[in-house]
Amino acid sequence: MFKLSAIALLLVSWSCLAAVSQAKSFGSPDLGTDDNNAIATDEETVDPFASCEIYCEGELLHTIQTAQPKLFADSKTFVDMKLNNSPDKTLADFKAMMEAKNQTPSNEDLKNFVDEYFSPKGTELEEWTPTDWTENPSFLDLISDPDLKQWGVELNNIWKILGRKMKDDVLKNPQYYSIIPVPNPVIIPGGRFIEFYYWDSYWIIRGLLYSQMYTTARGMIENFLSIVNRFGFIPNGGRVYYHGRSQPPLLTGMVKSYVDFTNDDKFAIDALEELEHEFEFFTNNHNVTVKNHSLCVYRDSSSGPRPESYREDVETGETFSTNEARELHYSELKAAAESGMDFSSRWFISEDGTNDGNLTNLSTSLIVPVDLNAYLYWNAKIIAEFHSKAGNTKKVTEYETKAEKFLLGIKEVLWNEEAGVWLDYDMKNEKPRDYFVPTNLSPLWVKAFNISESEKISASVMAYIEKHKLDTFPGGVPNTLSYTNEQWDAPNVWAPMQYILVEGLNNLNTPEAKNMSKKWATRWVKSNFAAFSKDRHMYEKYNADQFGVGGGGGEYEVQTGFGWSNGVIIEWLSKHGRDISTGGSGGAAASRVMSIVSVAAVTIVALIAGRVLWQNWFK
Ligand SMILES: *[C@@H]1O[C@H](CO)[C@@H](O)[C@H](O)[C@H]1NC(C)=O
Ligand SMILES: *[C@@H]1O[C@H](CO)[C@@H](O)[C@H](O)[C@H]1NC(C)=O
Ligand SMILES: *[C@@H]1O[C@H](CO)[C@@H](O)[C@H](O)[C@H]1NC(C)=O
Ligand SMILES: *[C@@H]1O[C@H](CO)[C@@H](O)[C@H](O)[C@H]1NC(C)=O
Ligand SMILES: *[C@@H]1O[C@H](CO)[C@@H](O)[C@H](O)[C@H]1NC(C)=O
Ligand SMILES: *[C@@H]1O[C@H](CO)[C@@H](O)[C@H](O)[C@H]1NC(C)=O
Repeated sequence: MFKLSAIALLLVSWSCLAAVSQAKSFGSPDLGTDDNNAIATDEETVDPFASCEIYCEGELLHTIQTAQPKLFADSKTFVDMKLNNSPDKTLADFKAMMEAKNQTPSNEDLKNFVDEYFSPKGTELEEWTPTDWTENPSFLDLISDPDLKQWGVELNNIWKILGRKMKDDVLKNPQYYSIIPVPNPVIIPGGRFIEFYYWDSYWIIRGLLYSQMYTTARGMIENFLSIVNRFGFIPNGGRVYYHGRSQPPLLTGMVKSYVDFTNDDKFAIDALEELEHEFEFFTNNHNVTVKNHSLCVYRDSSSGPRPESYREDVETGETFSTNEARELHYSELKAAAESGMDFSSRWFISEDGTNDGNLTNLSTSLIVPVDLNAYLYWNAKIIAEFHSKAGNTKKVTEYETKAEKFLLGIKEVLWNEEAGVWLDYDMKNEKPRDYFVPTNLSPLWVKAFNISESEKISASVMAYIEKHKLDTFPGGVPNTLSYTNEQWDAPNVWAPMQYILVEGLNNLNTPEAKNMSKKWATRWVKSNFAAFSKDRHMYEKYNADQFGVGGGGGEYEVQTGFGWSNGVIIEWLSKHGRDISTGGSGGAAASRVMSIVSVAAVTIVALIAGRVLWQNWFK
């Protein structure tokens, strides 16, 4: 009797403690923006693209990036180097050097020029330990399996490794750098990606929120809002050479995530101007009319090869005999980069209208993508929701109407009754593209469908999964079913795409779909864990055909780190960590011993606590 009441008392005080820490973590975090890092915002004097004349296009870029033999193993190295002089002086001296060398400089001449006029890559950033990082974020308490819990600890540690802060000089002299100055430190993806990336940051920020790093998450969002103010949109990543393209528009979703975690309605309302601006940027510059519906496509607005993959683009461009055809090819490469899926047979249109071919067959801007339109629907819904927090009913109606238009377009143009899912639409051949991509299910994630029809949609989506055997891959659902050696094709699996599938199926809310959702989340966690246990790395992408193996293919070496992979795992350990067990490794026996020890410890603490309380009450 005594023992039972003691445990009951302990449980009561335990849940009070939990409630307190919960309340604390959901409170409004303080705004840890460093005043010293304020960016010059005088629009008259600061051209945010001042360094573009070096890094975005032109003769200097062309000459260095196409030198034979190549000066750098990775084309991205050169465009990430710092200038030692102003862009104008650098260009003038380059021109003089070219003249002195009769326009045919040797590789040695070019190497000398680079050594004299540029500093090594990465010097603009310093490592930064997030000030709000904590050793034991509460998500760890949601994980039962001790091996997974330990992994959670290690993933949380990785945030410290991926923190970067800009040196003050970047903020003072942005024209010497390709990097885009931002006021707050960031968490980067990792590997060769030493700056922030736009859509990566969505999953990174969610991971940070689950890790209770509200200040860092908010700082990253504020960086994006500041970029919208200065540039009018968010470039693909934090470099001026991404100036002609964005990435899947998830800023509004980031703000929504932050507000869901913190209940900070003021933050939502204050962000509205930038969020609307970004929404308009997409709908005004990316729109097409299909079957009398205005929908959006991925599209780039710059000219020339991608500066960071210059040599590669010039090489594939050699297939084309006219400048016009080559320019179009570059533009399609960059549009594919805007989609985040660079590259994939998803964007190939062959001469006979299939997804056969190679990079020369990229036709991204002619394909109406399911995901982009679903995201824009979602953005409009969230903007309407934030306006309703502000009590602005006129704006609520305006954005609800915009959302409805996207919803109708998604239904009329992209929903495919025969396939039972949404499909990208090929405007060139005026037909749906019946190829699997996880984004075919992206409307489920952002609820861009009629919720009353969930049962029907669930039945057809489950049949689609069965038909394409999507549940048969040991390492997760591949990005497509075509093996092309491009990195966004089979057998590669990507964390954000698993996320869209799993969260989307969960939103359908039928037993079958929820079951599959949980199964895929569990498989993903276990497979990532197996790879981590073996290699001590989180990968940028994984292999669908093999359990616990990193992915490959594409243009560059395998990257580790890795922001969005970590973010997705932390979220799913939080959501499913009570139910997933790694089952049976050496750690499991140890874990049983540990749980016996902890049960014993809890009982002893309970006895003592109970006794103290008991005595105090009745004295
Ligand atoms: C795109 O949107 C603009 C502004 O809303 C509109 O004027 C234009 O006609 C649209 N273009 C297409 C191709 O739908
Ligand atoms: C196209 O849509 C407009 C309104 O958006 C409507 O007035 C027009 O009748 C539609 N045309 C066709 C052919 O459906
Ligand atoms: C793409 O395929 C064509 C043949 O259709 C070939 O001529 C070309 O070399 C290939 N290009 C690349 C970059 O693989
Ligand atoms: C891909 O494009 C190239 C260049 O236009 C063309 O020669 C080739 O036939 C295309 N490949 C396919 C499979 O259609
Ligand atoms: C949603 O689906 C229900 C049930 O089929 C239907 O009655 C309703 O009209 C649909 N709503 C819209 C906006 O299409
Ligand atoms: C859920 O999945 C399990 C296997 O993973 C299966 O045995 C069970 O029948 C499924 N339940 C439903 C409702 O689909």
